[in-house]
Amino acid sequence: MNTEIYYFSGTGNSLAAARDIAEKTKGTLISIPSVMDRLHINIKADSIGIVFPCYMAQLYGIPLMVEGFVKKLENIDTKYIFAVCTCGGRESFNALPTLKNLGRLIKSKGGKLSAEFSINLPMNNLNYYFFQDQNHETMFKKCRKKIEVIYQCIAGKKRNNYRILKSLFYFLITPMNFLLQNFYIIHLKEKSKEPGDTKLTYHELIPLTDKSISADDKCNGCSVCAKVCPAGNIKMTGNKPVWQHHCEMCMACVEWCPVKAIRHWNIEEGKSYHHPDIKISDMYRHH
Ligand SMILES: Cc1cc2nc3c(=O)[nH]c(=O)nc-3n(C[C@H](O)[C@H](O)[C@H](O)COP(=O)(O)O)c2cc1C
Ligand code: SF4
Ligand code: SF4
Repeated sequence: MNTEIYYFSGTGNSLAAARDIAEKTKGTLISIPSVMDRLHINIKADSIGIVFPCYMAQLYGIPLMVEGFVKKLENIDTKYIFAVCTCGGRESFNALPTLKNLGRLIKSKGGKLSAEFSINLPMNNLNYYFFQDQNHETMFKKCRKKIEVIYQCIAGKKRNNYRILKSLFYFLITPMNFLLQNFYIIHLKEKSKEPGDTKLTYHELIPLTDKSISADDKCNGCSVCAKVCPAGNIKMTGNKPVWQHHCEMCMACVEWCPVKAIRHWNIEEGKSYHHPDIKISDMYRHH
């Protein structure tokens, strides 16, 4: 099978999953940020995989750059397309609506999302930590098993099962998500330091949320944060990081800072997480 596996990742969860799938399928692993300078993206392989994290499932779920990537895809009508959404919360409530949105986006480009999967992995976003009821080792163990299932499905270019059941569940959780949307928008306005009555949308607020990120006195000017940022959103000025307001909210800068100098509203001070099998050098491959 000739497969290109595209990934977007902040803490390495999606990268680790994408890399394992690429190894099994002998596919080509490609970072989404590395192709975003192209006007259009023409896929040469027969199959395309998109592996990405879920962000704010109740609002939209798809990271802005992943959305931008899909919008650039050309000639995908004959391709077998699969997606893997990694999430920190329950897969049914978080990955399901996100993948639904991705399916619609792919359809708008003339393609079809043939198979969709989700993997529950440790969450970097510690304010939502109470949603996770399993320890990391259990999650990694389940993830390895899930990747084998994913491989068996995509190797046979199969479609997902349980479509009707998923649609029914999606229909049931939609009103709840709708109610939560306002809460998340207020949160985003606050973090992007916009007034409460701003007309800015979700897509316009997210890039500005870096206004609530800062480096403290521990910063030694090593520039790791600038190098891991998938959006090239950090410039080093006078040996200090300066955020440029086109943030993806991925939290890579926070999580990979070697001295934990970056303050972020969602991360408890002194805590950090990144996938244990991913090294900083793997993250640099974003570029
Ligand atoms: C800004 C942000 C929002 C998130 N929102 C959700 C969410 O709504 N539901 C969920 O299950 N996980 C959420 N997560 C957790 C990530 O989806 C999860 O940790 C993912 O595996 C991270 O993948 P990555 O390391 O490849 O970036 C969020 C993470 C971030 C950074
Ligand atoms: S990674 Fe941390 S220590 Fe290095 S420049 Fe960025 S904030 Fe400073
Ligand atoms: S500035 Fe930080 S949170 Fe924003 S995209 Fe870059 S690495 Fe991610």
